[in-house]
Amino acid sequence: MSERSQGGSRYPVYVTRRIPEAGLRLIQEVCDVHIWEGEMPPPKEVLVREVAHCEGLLSLVTDPVDAEVIAAGGRLRVISQYAVGVDNIDVQAATARGIPVGHTPGVLTEATADLTFALLLSAARRIVEGVDTVRSGKWRTWEPLGLLGNDVWGATLGIVGLGRIGAAVARRARGFAMHILYYDITRKPELERELSVAYAPLPELLARSDFVSLHCPLLPETYHLIDEQALRRMKPTAMLINAARGPVVDTGALTRALQEKWIAAAALDVTDPEPLPPDHPLVSLPNCTIVPHLGSATITTRERMALIAAENLLAGLRGERLPHCVNPEVYL
Ligand code: NAP
Ligand code: GLV
Repeated sequence: MSERSQGGSRYPVYVTRRIPEAGLRLIQEVCDVHIWEGEMPPPKEVLVREVAHCEGLLSLVTDPVDAEVIAAGGRLRVISQYAVGVDNIDVQAATARGIPVGHTPGVLTEATADLTFALLLSAARRIVEGVDTVRSGKWRTWEPLGLLGNDVWGATLGIVGLGRIGAAVARRARGFAMHILYYDITRKPELERELSVAYAPLPELLARSDFVSLHCPLLPETYHLIDEQALRRMKPTAMLINAARGPVVDTGALTRALQEKWIAAAALDVTDPEPLPPDHPLVSLPNCTIVPHLGSATITTRERMALIAAENLLAGLRGERLPHCVNPEVYL
């Protein structure tokens, strides 16, 4: 325990939603914790008001921790994100103020890769349409030409972003005898050897793949990486899987691509906007499967994320280096 907490003074922290107890308990041992108890994220004005009083902020992907929020945190010494992606945080603004930003890499890799593969299989074999057929009483007989899908075994998978999750998806794809292409901002020769994956420039990957799965972070360079031109490069039989971030795909272009059958199907864990309004055309398209950002949503994964988020937060409050820091330049 730090000298400061032993001395009775506790760190004031703001936690923007209730996270698994294991992580929260660690934080509560040494901090005065204010938790936003709402089901929906705290409004921006609440964030601005709360950070003014706290030294630590534990944030979620749904919280806009932008330059205004960071500037309001005059006493803020650490931001700990309960996620691996930090595109909701203005990391540059935090770095400029010397505030380390923590995140939770690794512990959610396998859960997110599992969900990605579930989406891929679901799109390929039209599982949701099949379930709808049964539930709506339309299952009348075994049909020789009913709900025919695409083969996964032996098909070509194109992975965009061969990082932790992209590589974990490739490992699963090898079990399905898939041919694997990848595109990344940097080549990964060790993974090419280990996973028998081949690098391809993005246009080539899009043209050759039966399934395209997105696993890059959302950055200015990846915003709308999959736009109309990219979708038109894909095969008409191909399927797009997005478990990265919604804005990596141009939603309008994807809607037209699915309506006009430039591609066969899409399966999305993430959308732009998020959530997608229930009356958005993508929601009711039979060739589009959407789940509500469930990548890391397993009991053990969320518990591990809570522990890492707590460790990052406490390290920052104690003036120690964060175990998982996205802006290590603050320590230079
Ligand atoms: P990671 O290990 O950092 O992998 C990201 C990969 O994308 C890296 O290989 C990175 O290359 C590459 N990349 C960076 N910029 C790129 C660009 N412009 N074009 C193509 N590739 C690029 O991260 P991760 O842990 O696998 O997570 C990836 C993303 O998945 C997260 O950022 C998050 O947005 C998303 N995610 C979603 C869920 C969910 O619930 N659906 C759960 C977890 C994560 P370098 O290594 O060279 O930078
Ligand atoms: C979830 O989307 C994450 O980035 O961890």
